Amino acid sequence: MKVLITFRFFDEWVKKIVESGIEVIRWKEEKAPPKKWILDNVINVDGILCTLNTKIDKEVISAAKNLKVISTYSVGFDHIDVKEAKSRGIRVGYTPEVLTETTADLIFGLILAVARRIVEGDKLIREGKWMIPWQSDFLLGYDVYGKTLGIIGMGRIGKAVYRRAKGFNMRVVYTSRTKKDDIDAEFVSFEELLKQSDFVVITVDLNESTYHMINESTLRLMKKTAFLINASRGKVVDEKALVKALEEKWIAGAALDVFEEEPINKDHPLLRFSNVVLTPHIGSATFETRHKMAEIAVENLLRGLREEKLVYEL
Ligand code: DGY
Repeated sequence: MKVLITFRFFDEWVKKIVESGIEVIRWKEEKAPPKKWILDNVINVDGILCTLNTKIDKEVISAAKNLKVISTYSVGFDHIDVKEAKSRGIRVGYTPEVLTETTADLIFGLILAVARRIVEGDKLIREGKWMIPWQSDFLLGYDVYGKTLGIIGMGRIGKAVYRRAKGFNMRVVYTSRTKKDDIDAEFVSFEELLKQSDFVVITVDLNESTYHMINESTLRLMKKTAFLINASRGKVVDEKALVKALEEKWIAGAALDVFEEEPINKDHPLLRFSNVVLTPHIGSATFETRHKMAEIAVENLLRGLREEKLVYEL
């Protein structure tokens, strides 16, 4: 059996694959492999281990004549043509659950950082601009405790954010495909959520119905004192509209871990705003979580090769 690993992956986990008697073709560079490399190498493989940086589209799937399983080292799967894979009987594995709490921690960190101007404060000190010991009107932000939090998409990560919000005595409103009975939060329409929330948190997948769901008309519904937080997928937000909203002060600020293009260009207008906190897609980036994700991704791959049930299958 032969597998293609399309990203720089931990040596110890590659070793585990090799020790199972499997031949590995491995991309080792930091940047994503070119499409040609994928197409040239995928022809005879039985499995693909990929992540967000590689599109496993119809062209790749059709080129892989022996493919049994695609295992992605991620919870998101918008980079894979799942429909095409499944129509050919190819299993698709992913890594939910293990990154839920870690991602919710980052989302809460973003809420606190942007509302309490933590990044601005740090920058100011480093630039030698903290001149007076304490001032009544210096670097004022907004309270988080007791405010209204709107969660778009009450899935695993939405619920983990909800649990954190309860510790901050927040009122939680949410939109979701279905009403949830296991949480004490108000199920409201998307419009109501935007109108009522002090913090709008996006936790939905990227698909045709969520592409640019935050756009000019939806941003206009938000309060002038509200913040937008996104750690799901960049393309859920129309960044041009967000820049306009920030320029014209329709909202108080934003905290973003994901972008329409990643890495975001250093000249992107979003980098000009001090009321915007930016992190480089690190929602699941802790030692513990990335290793748990690796364990599941490898297990999904090996089980798929053995034609067994995957740990998490799409
Ligand atoms: C995923 O796994 O899809 C995340 O975006 C990585 O943090």
